Amino acid sequence: MTLLALLLAVATQSAAPPPSAAPTPTTDAARVEQNDTCLSCHGEAGLEKTLPSGEVQSLVVSHETFAKSVHGDKLACTDCHTDITEVPHEARPFRTKREFSVAYYEACKRCHFANYSQTLDSAHAAAVARGDKTAPLCVDCHGSHDISLPSEPRTKISQTCSRCHAGVSQTYTASVHGSGIAEGNPDVPTCTDCHRSHDVAGPHKAGWKNRTPELCASCHADEQLMQKYGLSANVMSTYVSDFHGVTASLRAGSDDRNAAVVARCTDCHGVHDIVRVDAPNSRVLKANLVKTCAQCHEDASENFPDAWLSHYEPSLQRTPLVYLVTLGYKFLIPFMIGGLLLQVMLHLWRVVVNR
Ligand code: HEC
Ligand code: HEC
Ligand code: HEC
Ligand code: HEC
Ligand code: HEC
Ligand code: HEC
Ligand code: HEC
Ligand code: HEC
Ligand code: HEC
Repeated sequence: MTLLALLLAVATQSAAPPPSAAPTPTTDAARVEQNDTCLSCHGEAGLEKTLPSGEVQSLVVSHETFAKSVHGDKLACTDCHTDITEVPHEARPFRTKREFSVAYYEACKRCHFANYSQTLDSAHAAAVARGDKTAPLCVDCHGSHDISLPSEPRTKISQTCSRCHAGVSQTYTASVHGSGIAEGNPDVPTCTDCHRSHDVAGPHKAGWKNRTPELCASCHADEQLMQKYGLSANVMSTYVSDFHGVTASLRAGSDDRNAAVVARCTDCHGVHDIVRVDAPNSRVLKANLVKTCAQCHEDASENFPDAWLSHYEPSLQRTPLVYLVTLGYKFLIPFMIGGLLLQVMLHLWRVVVNR
């Protein structure tokens, strides 16, 4: 225990000292004054205590860091530390550092209730509920006294997640999307574009997985955006008309576990390791394609992929047969339906005339 802590302990035991800090100051001047009172002790270097767990908890709050934070010119210390209503104040019996975080992070919900309620629906909250002490609370992603804008610069987002998901982040950084982020490209997705930040869903649920093609399509079906990169914006429409996509869209939104056996964008392109389609390590490069198909089509032979259209629209040069059949259908189907309608009408007419 430091000398200050001793003094405090003595102070709190003596007959109740007059409270010199109001719970929540209402004017700017009162707020600054109150924060200065708190910082007269907590701004001093070296204030710390050893917790029963043996961990040393620093009790120092840097005046400068707090002032620079998003809350620096807005909040009083007691806006978050609502339990401290007078100075000097009583010590709270925390046993571990984690207990500090758990006790105080709840303060965020008072003002950011929407974010808070989103987190309740997340894979992270599920992990907390399982008793996982490594799952993130607000403070693990945002900090407490040094909170800054969470997505500026944009590279900060994947850095936040990488603290705990180092493997995924490393893979992602090398991908076509991740390397774009590092170069400041605003069009490529970062972790939260796919997973969101607060209601991070478990990606292993079939329902989430089945919606991933729409996720990719939110950018890859955008003509204007794809034109910028010389990429086809038809990848979704061609995928959906392919048997893989037909099956996947029939199951979209379903949480059925058996629905997992269907090819989605990520089964062919990868997830965090997506590279350009002509990169040597691309899973969809001709040389690697059979292996990619063989994940599901066990007996796929060398020329198995040739029978498949990939993302190409049927064309007279590339796939004359499919093209002609498709064209045939385009004429045949209207013709047949027209014929059918005509027949029905003629029947009706006969019925009316024959009355
Ligand atoms: C007279 C010096 C002093 C002042 C003024 C003071 N504190 Fe403290 N504070 C301490 C000491 C010493 C501890 C460590 C107590 C212990 O041993 O657990 C502490 C602990 C804390 C803790 C950690 C929880 C705990 O009890 O261990 C918080 C949070 C805190 N103070 C917030 C505040 C706020 C907010 C204010 C202003 C309203 C404030 N303090 C004013 C000395 C002070
Ligand atoms: C935006 C809310 C918020 C504000 C404003 C705030 N705190 Fe905190 N404070 C927290 C949270 C959350 C923790 C727990 C941090 C953790 O996980 O270790 C904490 C922890 C502390 C601790 C324990 C030591 C530590 O760093 O964990 C002290 C002491 C403290 N705060 C003092 C202050 C003082 C003094 C002020 C005003 C200058 C202040 N706080 C303003 C949210 C806040
Ligand atoms: C007493 C109310 C209050 C509490 C408690 C509070 N905040 Fe805030 N927070 C604000 C206000 C006000 C702003 C500034 C909003 C603005 O500028 O649009 C803000 C801004 C933020 C921002 C930046 C948002 C942006 O995009 O500008 C983040 C991140 C944030 N708070 C996180 C937290 C976290 C984490 C906690 C808990 C440790 C917390 N806040 C506790 C009131 C609060
Ligand atoms: C897993 C990390 C993580 C956790 C946990 C987390 N956040 Fe965030 N938060 C982010 C990221 C990343 C952003 C940046 C915006 C984005 O990319 O969606 C953000 C944005 C914000 C913003 C500003 C934008 C907005 O949505 O208004 C606020 C305020 C905020 N978070 C508050 C909170 C609060 C309060 C909690 C706890 C209840 C919390 N966050 C928990 C990662 C997290
Ligand atoms: C403080 C550590 C921590 C941080 C920071 C963190 N996570 Fe997590 N995350 C976890 C833990 C722990 C789990 C639960 C692991 C499990 O279920 O096996 C988890 C689970 C997940 C899952 C579900 C994984 C699965 O297999 O079901 C996703 C997705 C995820 N996190 C994404 C993110 C994103 C995106 C960010 C950044 C915005 C982030 N995490 C930040 C610790 C963290
Ligand atoms: C382009 C969209 C996209 C981006 C960007 C992305 N993810 Fe994922 N992530 C996915 C998909 C899809 C899955 C499900 C993989 C599967 O089918 O098993 C996943 C799975 C996960 C998992 C579960 C464990 C695993 O490896 O399967 C974690 C954790 C995770 N992502 C974290 C992150 C983090 C952290 C980032 C940023 C560094 C990130 N993701 C960026 C789409 C994305
Ligand atoms: C069955 C495997 C498979 C599936 C499923 C699949 N792709 Fe592809 N994709 C390929 C192959 C092979 C290529 C390279 C040949 C080509 O351009 O058609 C490719 C090419 C691409 C390209 C590059 C296009 C260009 O202009 O160079 C993008 C972008 C793409 N796919 C995105 C997607 C998206 C988004 C989805 C889901 C909606 C998806 N893919 C589903 C196999 C697949
Ligand atoms: C937020 C928008 C966005 C999302 C979401 C997104 N992408 Fe991309 N993707 C891009 C952009 C932009 C590029 C071009 C980057 C460049 O060329 O530098 C790209 C590049 C690619 C490429 C490389 C094409 C080539 O050969 O150059 C593939 C393959 C790809 N994405 C597949 C996917 C898949 C699969 C998903 C879903 C899991 C997905 N993307 C989600 C924006 C997105
Ligand atoms: C993740 C699993 C998966 C991957 C990877 C995959 N497919 Fe399929 N594929 C299926 C499933 C499941 C069906 C049956 C769909 C249906 O009929 O509902 C199918 C059907 C087909 C069919 C229709 C005829 C048949 O055998 O039923 C062809 C052709 C085909 N796939 C080609 C390919 C090619 C080429 C690749 C590699 C570029 C590939 N697939 C990759 C799962 C996959």
